[in-house]
Amino acid sequence: MRQKIVAGNWKMNKTMPEAQALSSEVMGMVSSEVTTNTKVVLCVPFPFLPVIKYLLGKSSVAVGAQNCSEHDWGAYTGEVSALMLKSMDIPYVILGHSERRQYFGEDGKLLVKKIDKALAAALTPIFCCGEPLEVREKGTHDTLVRQQVEEALFHLSAESLKKVVIAYEPVWAIGTGKTATSQQAQEMHAVIRKQLASKYGDTIAQEISILYGGSVNSKNAQELFSCPDVDGGLVGGASLKSREFVDIIKAMK
Ligand code: PGA
Repeated sequence: MRQKIVAGNWKMNKTMPEAQALSSEVMGMVSSEVTTNTKVVLCVPFPFLPVIKYLLGKSSVAVGAQNCSEHDWGAYTGEVSALMLKSMDIPYVILGHSERRQYFGEDGKLLVKKIDKALAAALTPIFCCGEPLEVREKGTHDTLVRQQVEEALFHLSAESLKKVVIAYEPVWAIGTGKTATSQQAQEMHAVIRKQLASKYGDTIAQEISILYGGSVNSKNAQELFSCPDVDGGLVGGASLKSREFVDIIKAMK
């Protein structure tokens, strides 16, 4: 059975003391919510990783990064490699978030390299895909999302693909308060799973967790997570408040 995951994407928010307080609160509230088949991840800014990792200790909450370099080492000022994350035992890394695509020009070619580096370092990539509003309005969202998935992931072997988590995040729903309806989310998740099945077979496609992201909150989470192909969420704004985030985690059941 595939894993249900709720991952918080803090983006570039919080000071160190605030980060420690938020992580402690989440950890304190979720212990009983997390079962063997569910996972909670806090994707925090790079500088906080070791401290939050230490603070979470052996609790049921894992920590993740929000990006990594396509290089291993070298003269790339300001970058952080997958090997560095691995050396700190960081298990997850978000890759291809729409904000990275939009503000930092990340495209499919670059994401192939990043995904490969993350997997080579035994990290679990949370690979993001999703269409902007104008594409949704044109009705070509299926085509674009399928293209994003194919470009970044279809060079992988089945064994490697099984280690990837996919997050479908329609760009028009990110940070806007305008969530996709559960029907829109389910439709797109089913499209992605079908696409995975056509390349890797149904058994593998059924094992891949596909998360929904875009204005998930404690009010809409339950309906979204109850869709058959929605395996949890990637949560931005609502992961910055402990109570709200924990209520979203509870909706995974
Ligand atoms: P949001 O962000 O929940 O604030 O819409 C989601 C994301 O960007 O991952």
